[in-house]
Amino acid sequence: MTHPELIPGLAGIPAAESSISFINGLEGLLSYRGIRIEELSAQSHYEEVCWLLWNGELPTQAQLDQFKLRLRPHRELNADLKKFVRGLPQSGHPMEALQASMATLGMVSPGVDLKSADSRLDACERVLGAMGTLIASCERHRQGLDLVEPDPELSVAANFLYCLNGERPDEIKTRVLDCALVLHAEHTMNASTFACRVVASTETSPYTAVSAAVGSLFGPLHGGANERVLRQLESIGGKENVEAWVDKKMAAKEKIMGFGHRVYKTKDPRAHDLQKLAGQLFETHGSTPLYDTALELERIVTDRLGDRGIYPNVDFFSGIVYQKLGIPTDVFTPIFALSRTAGWLAHWMEQMEDNKLFRPGQIYTGRKDVHYVPMAQR
Ligand code: SDX
Repeated sequence: MTHPELIPGLAGIPAAESSISFINGLEGLLSYRGIRIEELSAQSHYEEVCWLLWNGELPTQAQLDQFKLRLRPHRELNADLKKFVRGLPQSGHPMEALQASMATLGMVSPGVDLKSADSRLDACERVLGAMGTLIASCERHRQGLDLVEPDPELSVAANFLYCLNGERPDEIKTRVLDCALVLHAEHTMNASTFACRVVASTETSPYTAVSAAVGSLFGPLHGGANERVLRQLESIGGKENVEAWVDKKMAAKEKIMGFGHRVYKTKDPRAHDLQKLAGQLFETHGSTPLYDTALELERIVTDRLGDRGIYPNVDFFSGIVYQKLGIPTDVFTPIFALSRTAGWLAHWMEQMEDNKLFRPGQIYTGRKDVHYVPMAQR
């Protein structure tokens, strides 16, 4: 039986004071620095949202231009890092490659003086700048392709697609990916952000903190759900099979990927926006039968589990969008990481401003006063 003082998964327990983002899980409301996500996804873009998350205010044109200029050189991977990427095993998952190469970026970057605000900002810009190129390079290496040099003139979204595919993306694809990046950029004290803050609290660099966050995002209960949603939709095999598939899942007490959330007890506001994005892409690039399956799955799961607060989350429609953008399924979670880097780094900076080492307690359930028994007497 669980101890009465224990809150499993620290559900609902505040782990920090933060002014970065806010969620109302009952009303399905999310804001970054007070601005509703729907306004940002409709009117802003990823680089501007990064500035907002890091600085608390929207930038002036001059501040935004400067910020973009400072990020540009960091897109390029240095020779040692490229050598590392080319030496990675081609087996394994892109998130494992990303976690390893993010830690390696720290090894080839200047040391961070945690007492200097300029040095902290410089390190964060290096992480954010390199993230897209790192993900794309790891993936190209995995596919046995040559790495593509980043294009400093392109936005974060367009440069990522360019480095991944070797072709400059069209305007619609760039806009759709940019919007997905805005939607995933920050989300209060989720597991990976908490991991980032815990590592930050030991007074370590953003490279190691973000590398830990990438590891935390990888799991299927968190960011890893997006690729599983797509595989799930493919395995259902058509909208006519959805009802029987849901019945089987529920009878086996298995989780349905892309549904449920620790905080939202209604449809995730980001799922609404990602669904709209899928619609925009379908107008110009054609629809997919997976979307019909997804709509039927949403209808049936909501009917069966909606009264328990289980609705589509952010990962439910993102895979359909990324597949239409021509992105391989196991690069979906790295795209989540690319976007969330903005939020992780905002939390790293906030943690550094008023740091206290995380060191929670535990409820000991083991034996006491046990004596060592020599091997011959066991
Ligand atoms: C993200 O925290 C964040 O902010 C995360 C995130 C972000 O932006 O950072 O929003 C991103 O991680 C989205 C979540 C992606 N994960 C999935 O889609 C995986 C499927 N979802 C679930 O595993 C689950 O809903 C969680 C893990 C996301 C949250 O669940 P909780 O709060 O830990 O709840 P739980 O697992 O303890 O379940 C409570 C009950 C259980 O039933 P009972 O045992 O009480 O009878 O709800 C049921 C669960 O079985 N349940 C589900 C379900 N999710 C919860 N049943 C079927 N399918 C599901 N998806």
